[in-house]
Amino acid sequence: MKHTTRELLETMRVIVCCGAGGVGKTSVAASLALAGAKLGKRVLVLTIDPSKRLAETLGVSRHQQEPVPISAQRFADAGVEVSGSLSAWMLDPQTVSDAVVQRLSGSNESAKQLLNNKIYKNVTAMVAGMQEYTAVEALHGFVKDDAYDLIILDTPPSRNALHFLDAPNRITEFLDGRVFRFFLPKEGSLFQKATSKILERVLHIALGKDSTTELLTFFKMFSGILLHLGRDAKGVRAFFAEPTVAFVIVTSPEKEALLEAEYFKRKTTVELGLNLCGVYLNRTLLDIEKHSWPEAKVKDKEPQGELRSALEKLQVLADSEKQLIEGHRKVYDELCDKVSAEQFTVALPYLSEGVSTLRHLTSLASRLCTIEV
Ligand SMILES: Nc1ncnc2c1ncn2[C@@H]1O[C@H](COP(=O)(O)OP(=O)(O)OP(=O)(O)O)[C@@H](O)[C@H]1O
Ligand SMILES: [Mg+2]
Repeated sequence: MKHTTRELLETMRVIVCCGAGGVGKTSVAASLALAGAKLGKRVLVLTIDPSKRLAETLGVSRHQQEPVPISAQRFADAGVEVSGSLSAWMLDPQTVSDAVVQRLSGSNESAKQLLNNKIYKNVTAMVAGMQEYTAVEALHGFVKDDAYDLIILDTPPSRNALHFLDAPNRITEFLDGRVFRFFLPKEGSLFQKATSKILERVLHIALGKDSTTELLTFFKMFSGILLHLGRDAKGVRAFFAEPTVAFVIVTSPEKEALLEAEYFKRKTTVELGLNLCGVYLNRTLLDIEKHSWPEAKVKDKEPQGELRSALEKLQVLADSEKQLIEGHRKVYDELCDKVSAEQFTVALPYLSEGVSTLRHLTSLASRLCTIEV
């Protein structure tokens, strides 16, 4: 069944925004969140690396332990009416990963030991799948705790944004790496155990006692935690395939972004069987499509001199703008033809000031909820 954005905001529990790098995923995620809050929902937006000014508007920064609500006063100051609430949180792999360690370590003592481990402090960002897994982990926690009606999930700036669905598998693959396997708790043959003893001694000679102890503690404790996370691949897939989880694609009218959008469409629907609800074509000039253009055509005889040359330059600008708009119209019409009967296509306007204040977000939010251009 085809949904409008408004219906998604009213009925879904989670909306995931994906798309190519730089197309406006974070901006659209924040605008969707504001639109939901305006409809009376208690909304949480989980953003990834918002621009500095948008981060300030949302009140988020790295290392925050929990979501931050935007105060009623701030909405009032910006002249934005909101009947629900809007909280935001920046997904920081390290913070989420620390919380996972706390939860899975068994005891406070061993959690502390791992969290203070020098190697752990530097490695979480490097482990394949860890960043995406932390997003899933955070999302899961918020879905369970019922403090929010709707959660909007922004995704990382990469072609592999959908990796978070594969995160547990990727963690498992990482654990299958030869070096790591030696250190997995309660696994390995006698031969492996003997080899890991030898390795331990070699490390000791090469690195010195303190660093070796640090490294071995890290491997032993962290591999156990990764192993646990890696077992949950099916659960993660099942969660994202639930009918109350919607996926939307954000794209700009540029060719590369549209190719990426195609990829996301295929991947989410054909390969993963997810609930892809629609596509937002961001940064279009379709709003000014019907404007009347000043007739700047230069007639043969008059005017002359500087005025004529200025008019000629204006004409070039007007022509190229018109061409751009025609291109956006073509892209929009083609997108409408390409999406299935169950998916919407919504064109969003290019905002000359960018998207960083509550007013900008309001402007996009109102457009998200209208369908035709
Ligand atoms: N409709 C719009 N009109 C004008 N500027 C926009 C619009 N949407 C987004 N932008 C601007 O484009 C830039 C990129 O937007 P944003 O950070 O939302 O993209 P993103 O897809 O999340 O990027 P990344 O892939 O790097 O995370 C920002 O400066 C933002 O203000
Ligand atoms: Mg982003």
